[in-house]
Amino acid sequence: MSEIVTTGEMPPGAAASAVPAGQGAGAPVAGPPATAHGQVGQPPAGPGVSVAVVEFDVPTRERIISLLGDGVTPFNTLEELTSRLTGAMPVVSVLGPSCSGPDTLAMIERVNQQYPYMASVMVVHELTTTLLQQALRAGVRDVLALGGEAGALAHAVQRVATTLQAVAVTVPAAPAGTGEEEYEAVNGKVYSVFSTKGGSGKSVLATSLATTLAQRSELPVALVDADLQFGDVAVMLKLAPNHTIVDAVSALDRLDPAMLDNFLVTHEPSGLKVLPAPLEPAFADQVSASDMRAVVDMLRTFCGHVIVDTPAYFNDVVLGLVEASDDVLLVAGMDIPNIKNVKIGLQTLRLLDTPMEKLHLVLNRANSKVKLEVSEVEKTLGMKAAALIPSDIAVPQSVNKGEPVVLFAPKSSVAKSIEEMADMVLPRQGKRKR
Ligand SMILES: Nc1ncnc2c1ncn2[C@@H]1O[C@H](COP(=O)(O)OP(=O)(O)OP(=O)(O)O)[C@@H](O)[C@H]1O
Ligand SMILES: [Mg+2]
Repeated sequence: MSEIVTTGEMPPGAAASAVPAGQGAGAPVAGPPATAHGQVGQPPAGPGVSVAVVEFDVPTRERIISLLGDGVTPFNTLEELTSRLTGAMPVVSVLGPSCSGPDTLAMIERVNQQYPYMASVMVVHELTTTLLQQALRAGVRDVLALGGEAGALAHAVQRVATTLQAVAVTVPAAPAGTGEEEYEAVNGKVYSVFSTKGGSGKSVLATSLATTLAQRSELPVALVDADLQFGDVAVMLKLAPNHTIVDAVSALDRLDPAMLDNFLVTHEPSGLKVLPAPLEPAFADQVSASDMRAVVDMLRTFCGHVIVDTPAYFNDVVLGLVEASDDVLLVAGMDIPNIKNVKIGLQTLRLLDTPMEKLHLVLNRANSKVKLEVSEVEKTLGMKAAALIPSDIAVPQSVNKGEPVVLFAPKSSVAKSIEEMADMVLPRQGKRKR
């Protein structure tokens, strides 16, 4: 049976053995157009990586191909493409608008898990936050609008191809000329945002706190998404990362601050440096507690503050982070299940001999009319709230827009209370560049 062939590995004059769209399986093999030298056209991802375009609508598919140039293999459907994958060759699949339905997205998620050497970029007619979120959750690396900036698609394909090579084969080298000397050890502070209750607002608070600190701090500020399976930080900040924590961990034996800095994606509006969670839950296992600790310890050598968003449960990684943190912001919502779970979490932390002075209670949605008084909650948990964050419609609106609420609605009461929470970490004087 025919299969996708990596152009860079083909013998001179050979044709790629993928079946073009419009021809069923077993049809005569036709490869990408040949160049004047009789070689297969250089694919837009560079040598060693194949590019497949999957789109049912022929004119749309041709438009996508025209944006990518020679060396692209067209397919009608994802099924057609997967029937040709060998599982060993790096392939960037460019998925057209006909692939954005829920069934195809579910299939993309499965295919991405099955073929670690395949990565996808999606092209849609109109980009919405919901679709971006769904596609990224399915493991798609980037989503672009078809009518967008010229060259954007080819760049996205190149970026993804580079990441594929980094994950599959090697890791990118640190930028030339950067060395220890440029990364003065600053011994930054680490703050983990934790809760034993899912959905309590950890990621919302971690992203906004980190953004605020990044705007205030003279030194770099990093945000690590340690919710390794279902991290939302990149989506909440509308980032399409080239690298994730998996890349940093894969390079751990030769990681230095310059290389780690290279793996961080900058949130341009604030200057925050983000280390995103793996793009697929299956990669979570590749990050051990000691890996996470090593990465965080290296971040604090060049960042003034490192904020860590965590999942809603205890595991080795989380326990290591609690230990490594200077302070832990314990987030609780204002309802009985929240308070119950946070109380159990506190008991666990006590049992593990966590110094209580580094735990700070943050009550989220503290103004909710839920017949639960802040004082009652404080009494139940046996600790005073260090910060009270009100409930505000601006929060879900900002999440859906992919903007931290402190930037989306800076005058809102929720933004003001997050600013006050940030005052405890880094007072406001000494505003900087952004
Ligand atoms: N103060 C608030 N006011 C209104 N809505 C809020 C507030 N805080 C959080 N939310 C809403 O609650 C939802 C969950 O928040 P978030 O994703 O930050 O929780 P989480 O603790 O990180 O969840 P998970 O455990 O799944 O990672 C968000 O979509 C957000 O819109
Ligand atoms: Mg979260």
